[in-house]
Amino acid sequence: MDYFEYRDGQLWAEEVRVADLVEQYGTPLYVYSARTLARHFTAFDAALDGLDHLICFSVKANSNLSLLRQLGELGAGMDIVSGGELYRVLKAGVDPHKVVFSGVGKQDHEIREALTADILMFNVESSQELERIGRIAEKMQTVACISIRINPDVDPQTHPYISTGLKKNKFGMDMLEATGAYLMAKRHAFLEPVGMDCHIGSQLTQIGPFVEALEKLLTFVDRLGSSGVTIHYLDLGGGLGITYHDELPPLPADLGKAIAETVGRRELTIILEPGRAIAGNAGILVTRVIFTKKTPVKHFVIVDAAMNDLVRPSLYGAYHRIREVHPRGREPMKVDVVGPICESTDFLAQDRLLPGLAVGEALAVFSAGAYGFTMSSQYNSRPRAAEVRVDGDHAILARRRETYDDLIALEE
Ligand code: LLP
Repeated sequence: MDYFEYRDGQLWAEEVRVADLVEQYGTPLYVYSARTLARHFTAFDAALDGLDHLICFSVKANSNLSLLRQLGELGAGMDIVSGGELYRVLKAGVDPHKVVFSGVGKQDHEIREALTADILMFNVESSQELERIGRIAEKMQTVACISIRINPDVDPQTHPYISTGLKKNKFGMDMLEATGAYLMAKRHAFLEPVGMDCHIGSQLTQIGPFVEALEKLLTFVDRLGSSGVTIHYLDLGGGLGITYHDELPPLPADLGKAIAETVGRRELTIILEPGRAIAGNAGILVTRVIFTKKTPVKHFVIVDAAMNDLVRPSLYGAYHRIREVHPRGREPMKVDVVGPICESTDFLAQDRLLPGLAVGEALAVFSAGAYGFTMSSQYNSRPRAAEVRVDGDHAILARRRETYDDLIALEE
């Protein structure tokens, strides 16, 4: 559930009229709802109530400082995948002891930065990485807490580009290699194996694959225990899906219940790394119609947001619901909603039934709070959109719109 609602014939973000935000900040504009973000985070936190747990928001989904700060204040940890994300998380005042560092290609400087910040643990994805972390920790005379990311070979039944837990994927280690890695870490004076981790994919709409992965990990945890390696943290990654169109994904509570039943009486702290399920429906992208264009075979609605602002439709064929900010009950017609970029993949929707739209009118592209702004670019030298955060009847500019000067600021 989110707090973008139609009342009195127009779209509101909490207690603020979206039309007023358009007036004040222009378009394209990302609008986030703080209340929705809090609600989604709290749903995860409550879902694991009966277990020791930590909810680490996956920063790649939305890394705006004001959102990270809000989540940190609510008690969230963070799942990061780069030194840049660590930098943001620290700037947002999040407790570094609640930060886990995932990713297959951590560089030396990033490992050093994470050790200096004293993060909770590294989710290690290969034996080479483990050795590298051990060497750097030794040089720094500090102990690195590690978790091994297991590739459980489970089919998450989602888009192939966002499946990560299959044997053919680049992520994690198989259990044989992981056994060697755990034993090596246990012997190492500067490594401390404390956790086990997996992340099988994103936008999952069923519980089954989570449970299948968890069962495999727990069997492994038990086996390692008898070899003298005690696992304290079990991190099941992120991946819970959201409703973009007509999907009916399980709720965090359903996932929590399945986890509690599967974990049983084992003494483990459960970590989850949700990104999309917390931020996805807490954000919309607002855009305005520049032109409407009719060709012999199509109706196009050309808007001021493009694939550089929201790449998901072009990259994954993703569906994002689009509606007028101010619906007027007009007859629907089939249109392609496209941006100004010089590529035919530049669309936000294809063959979509929308009312006959007028030039200048504002549209809301829903479910854009995750992997929206973070995947945006300046392609076609388009300054990136502004981001606004609404909390009740209060709106703040969370990131100003880029200017032409910003486009060239780093160039000679
Ligand atoms: N943990 C790890 C290690 C991950 O790789 C990811 C996402 C997450 C957690 C968070 O997953 P979530 O809860 O958001 O599903 N750009 C794509 C999604 C890529 C996801 C990559 N990894 C999209 O727009 O659909």
